[in-house]
Amino acid sequence: MAGLIPQSFIDDLINRVDIVEVIDAHVPLKKTGRDYSACCPFHNEKTPSFTVSPVKQFYYCFGCGAHGTALTFLMEYGRMDFVEAVESLASQQGMEVPREQGAHTRQSNAGLYDLLEQATAYYCQQLKYNQIAIDYLKGRGLDGKTAAEYGLGYAPPGWNNLTPVLGKDRHDELLKSGMLTRGDNGDTHDRFRERIMFPIRDRRGRTIGFGGRILGQGSHAKYLNSPETPLFHKSRELYGLYEARKAVRKLESFYIVEGYIDVIAMAQNGMRNVVATMGTAITAEHLKKLFKIAPAIVFCFDGDRAGRDAAWRALGNTLPVMRDGRMVRFLFLPDGEDPDSMIRQHGRDVFERLTGEAQTLSEYFFAHLEAGINLSTPDGRAQLAKQAQPLLQKLPGGVFYDLMLDELSKRTELSVERLVEITTPVQQPTSRKPGSFIIRKEDPSVRHLITLLLQQPSLAQLAHNIGDLAGYNVPGAALLAELIDFLKDKSDIHPGVILEHWRNSEYGKHLAKLAQCPVELEEHRLEAEFKDSFRQLDKYDPLHPDQILEKIRQGHPITREEKNILRQPAPDQ
Ligand code: UTP
Ligand code: MN
Repeated sequence: MAGLIPQSFIDDLINRVDIVEVIDAHVPLKKTGRDYSACCPFHNEKTPSFTVSPVKQFYYCFGCGAHGTALTFLMEYGRMDFVEAVESLASQQGMEVPREQGAHTRQSNAGLYDLLEQATAYYCQQLKYNQIAIDYLKGRGLDGKTAAEYGLGYAPPGWNNLTPVLGKDRHDELLKSGMLTRGDNGDTHDRFRERIMFPIRDRRGRTIGFGGRILGQGSHAKYLNSPETPLFHKSRELYGLYEARKAVRKLESFYIVEGYIDVIAMAQNGMRNVVATMGTAITAEHLKKLFKIAPAIVFCFDGDRAGRDAAWRALGNTLPVMRDGRMVRFLFLPDGEDPDSMIRQHGRDVFERLTGEAQTLSEYFFAHLEAGINLSTPDGRAQLAKQAQPLLQKLPGGVFYDLMLDELSKRTELSVERLVEITTPVQQPTSRKPGSFIIRKEDPSVRHLITLLLQQPSLAQLAHNIGDLAGYNVPGAALLAELIDFLKDKSDIHPGVILEHWRNSEYGKHLAKLAQCPVELEEHRLEAEFKDSFRQLDKYDPLHPDQILEKIRQGHPITREEKNILRQPAPDQ
């Protein structure tokens, strides 16, 4: 692993860059009042709803909700990873990125990337000379353009082609990258021989491994994949993800299929949002990666026994990442068909129609569990409750969990309360993890104070006596306390630093949301406003009976703790 970049460096860096300059270099901006705007680069639109605030050092789009700092912009728009974005900004500022430790490990991997790049080029070139391999791909319906886009190649016959081509001195690296393998006698030889080669690429398009298919039928394994190496981890990588992101700027959904050829055949037929696992089950890590990019996933499985088993396993790994707003469907293809054969025979329209008809996660969940259970008997209903219980327990708390519970209640005729007793989600929707918070509408002052700080961080210096603020029983108080603490001794800092500092924490998305709240005040009124709100906060006690009654009046649910407070006799004083 590369050495960590110290947070203090990132703070400093963000404080120096101007987001307007950074974005304007990619998306020309127009000044509109205090802000700048443009047509949003993250979705298609005709009138500009993409806004960049030089004051907040923050961008956001009213249309699609994209938002972030200069760093986020480079990551999203430039498709860089975090380190790349930091390096890019730093080099514009003429700053060198310091590392906390182990900076040299990056370099040693750099050699492996380079090696695999050369191997990719070699296989591509070999494909050009090999008519049998070309004919095989043509026979599978693939055209030259698609083959080139996916960097397809050919590993010629022979046990020792790579070392002479890439250099004898790189033998150890070839072994480390999985391109060579050791035989029983201890000698090394090329892993891939007489195979169509599929380079597996990371998000920057660098080859990190290969899949290789024999031509036609044969006695060898149909597909061989690179082993786990410092660059390649099957449980993390998805074949076709780089190509999908390159082809479609704003991906709305992904299909997950099983095979390399499935991905490529679908792409050639106009479906670019397809990725494949590489001979392993889908992991939560795979899913998280995809859900970061798009909210909907369609699993494609063969309709046969193996496909059904794989689907159920996939469902088990999906439950823990089913946060609200995420959609999952299960598409079972007719027996004997795979996405490649389906799309080539029936085309894109049929495929998309089938997708629309595919089972949602909850439909599949109950259909699968209820197979073989007789729900008209109490025994059957008890059995369903029992089998659903450990699975529902994997779901994070939230609306989806609630809906699944309602559904289970309907089917088992058990009350939701009874079901909750046997099925408690990992994280109760109402429980607060330490350090997490929900800013509720009924707690306006904390929210407002944070919004003001995001407008003008130097206001933090006006906050005195924050002593026990962090332990204060107001949602958001802990964040406010942390913010003030962070900002107090920094006199000249711009708000982008705050957003970047907390971006990956629990607080990040709340801060991003608050940064979008317009502050309609003149600059000279900010101080008075901040002081005022701070004073109000001091008086605010959410567990005061009046506050609880106010909450009820506003139609908000109250907690058991709050109920108890109302039951207690009023204190004497
Ligand atoms: P399939 O056997 O379903 O083949 O393997 P396919 O994708 O339809 O391949 P074609 O159409 O015959 O070319 C699905 C995936 O499982 C992995 C590969 O990643 C493959 O794409 N696999 C399969 C292996 O790793 N090894 C094998 O021997 C077979
Ligand atoms: Mn196939």
